[in-house]
Amino acid sequence: MKSNLKFFKKSKIMPVDKFFYNVLYDKKFGYYASRLPFGKKGDFITSPRLSPLFCEMIAIWIISSWELFGKPKNFNIIELGPGDGSLTKVLLRCFKNFPEFNSIKKVFLYEESSYLKNIQKKNISNKDVHWINNFKLIKKGPVIFFGNEFFDAIPIKQFKKIKNHIFEKNYKLDKNYYIREIFKKTTETNIKAIESYKSLKKLNFIEFPKLGLMELKKIIKKISELTGCILLIDYGYLRPNNQNTLQSVMKHKKNELLKNLGKADVTAHVNFNLLSEYFLKNDLKVKGVITQKQFLENMGILQRAKIVAKKMRFSEQSDLYLRIKRLLSPNSMGNLFKVILAYQFNKDNFIGFE
Ligand SMILES: C[S@@+](CC[C@H](N)C(=O)[O-])C[C@H]1O[C@@H](n2cnc3c(N)ncnc32)[C@H](O)[C@@H]1O
Repeated sequence: MKSNLKFFKKSKIMPVDKFFYNVLYDKKFGYYASRLPFGKKGDFITSPRLSPLFCEMIAIWIISSWELFGKPKNFNIIELGPGDGSLTKVLLRCFKNFPEFNSIKKVFLYEESSYLKNIQKKNISNKDVHWINNFKLIKKGPVIFFGNEFFDAIPIKQFKKIKNHIFEKNYKLDKNYYIREIFKKTTETNIKAIESYKSLKKLNFIEFPKLGLMELKKIIKKISELTGCILLIDYGYLRPNNQNTLQSVMKHKKNELLKNLGKADVTAHVNFNLLSEYFLKNDLKVKGVITQKQFLENMGILQRAKIVAKKMRFSEQSDLYLRIKRLLSPNSMGNLFKVILAYQFNKDNFIGFE
């Protein structure tokens, strides 16, 4: 058996989410267990590495939200799925320009992969940053959770609906070690969950982020306890249309989904209407969904670029604007990436969403 399929040993049939959870996060064989996926030499690039200006916009958004919360003396920010730590690294640099905020903020990182945790520790190297596996340690003050490409990295379930019966997609390893797709009748719990979302009605192919929603449940519990909010930026859509959005990427190119398991990144597009429904069901208020282009422009990224560009040589300026174009262009990340904010607080004038 190929070493990257060894997690299949015990149970030879697995639902899609469990299968890809192992492919990505298995402690020995998973994609995130041993490789750095980001950047030119890796498999894909994300916004924090594309431009520090993206990170600066998040820094300003966080500080402005802290002001909206009334500048509390206890204040926690938690990055979800920090990758190589690029975003928090720039945030910490930006916060130094705001001494009042800088002296009180507590910074936490929530990361699944031990390998990436070590990379983050090296990159950030700051004793005031804490890595956490759950949110129990956070006891006082409002909380801001934020994540870029966090939710898309949590494997989803897939279902087919035939004449009102719902079947779940599973993978099976046959005796020749080929991976076969099989559909099995699903549980009452899954059926109940799926049927409770308006945004999944009338579909005959359904993608359901059960594991992702379990993560959000823990986050919402903390927000409800201490007040606060969650900002998620991810690629996704508003209206599902029976599409299978699972995709695999290797060395910046699309890769066949079941090829190069453990060597390629596998993600799914996020159903933002479903996220919105989930937050509302759990008594949070919601802002958005807006596009990344709208959010970053509302935050003033173009004005900031103008200021930064003044001190640059021509070649650096063109590089800066090429990167910003990629973040904002409707044909690139500008429209495909969306932003959602869910919060529990009595004010709602968060910047970036006006
Ligand atoms: C696509 S990467 C994005 C990294 C980074 N946010 C960026 O924009 O460059 C997804 C990140 O989420 C982490 N992740 C995925 N599922 C997670 C979970 N359930 N809990 C914590 N981190 C998770 C991955 O290990 C990885 O760091």
